[in-house]
Amino acid sequence: MTPSKLMNASEPLLVLDRVFAGYGKMTVFAGYGKMTILNGTTARVRRGAITTVIGPNGAGKSTMFKAIFGLLPVRSGTVAVDGRNVTNFSPRQLLDLGVVYIPQGRNIFPELSVRHNLELGGVASSDRAGLAGRLDAIMQRFAMLSDKADAQASTLSGGQQKILEVARGLLLDPKLILIDEPSIGLSPLMVQEVLAILKDLRDNGVTVLLIEQNAKQALQISDDGLVLEQGQTRIEDTAPNILADPRIAQLFLGGGLAAPEHV
Ligand SMILES: Nc1ncnc2c1ncn2[C@@H]1O[C@H](COP(=O)(O)OP(=O)(O)OP(=O)(O)O)[C@@H](O)[C@H]1O
Ligand SMILES: [Mg+2]
Repeated sequence: MTPSKLMNASEPLLVLDRVFAGYGKMTVFAGYGKMTILNGTTARVRRGAITTVIGPNGAGKSTMFKAIFGLLPVRSGTVAVDGRNVTNFSPRQLLDLGVVYIPQGRNIFPELSVRHNLELGGVASSDRAGLAGRLDAIMQRFAMLSDKADAQASTLSGGQQKILEVARGLLLDPKLILIDEPSIGLSPLMVQEVLAILKDLRDNGVTVLLIEQNAKQALQISDDGLVLEQGQTRIEDTAPNILADPRIAQLFLGGGLAAPEHV
């Protein structure tokens, strides 16, 4: 039976159902033992929304993204995109389905020009025909990138490099962007700018799943939030509800206890 378009529209774009994953190999004696990082993680990520994942260091946030994107084997449970089971699909297959992953840190080719970096984003595209048009549109949308198109990418500031990464991902015309701590090391102004870009993408129909240490700021531009602890989903709610939850304020939003600085 094919679900109707209407059902599809209200169905979450990304669903994690009791996902277990970790880094070690299974041993006869200890099973997966302590190496299981995701311990039954669940999520229902709404279509066309920004969802921010928060949780303490080591909770498994980045691991969750790697498991979704096929960089780490899912040992049990399922990952579904658009109602389709994509568990243990390769990154390449996920890109083809419109899922883009932007890891933490710097992921550009510093020696190459800005334009060349952008063009490399298109290498993974199976829609070669539309590529030139999308590159033009991206250059128009991000004036900074077009101003610096011929400059070596290493000359961009950290924030500009992050924008370049996002723009490169857009060449694939994604429906879902997984973005891990984009604001690390950026100036407050650049943090605002990167978050504004994500908001703008959301307003254009892209679904964004974001990990952010600047939890409060991120939740303020988000629709939904997810709290992960020890590889388990503790809370999934709207961002306003999470912002208003005193337990969360205490633990993650700098309320009450002094929040440790994360570098
Ligand atoms: N490549 C790896 N090999 C083995 N263990 C790893 C690897 N990457 C992460 N881990 C472990 O998995 C656990 C979860 O790490 P993960 O990076 O997913 O946490 P996180 O929630 O993203 O934390 P942070 O807020 O510090 O980024 C940690 O205990 C970490 O040491
Ligand atoms: Mg992380």
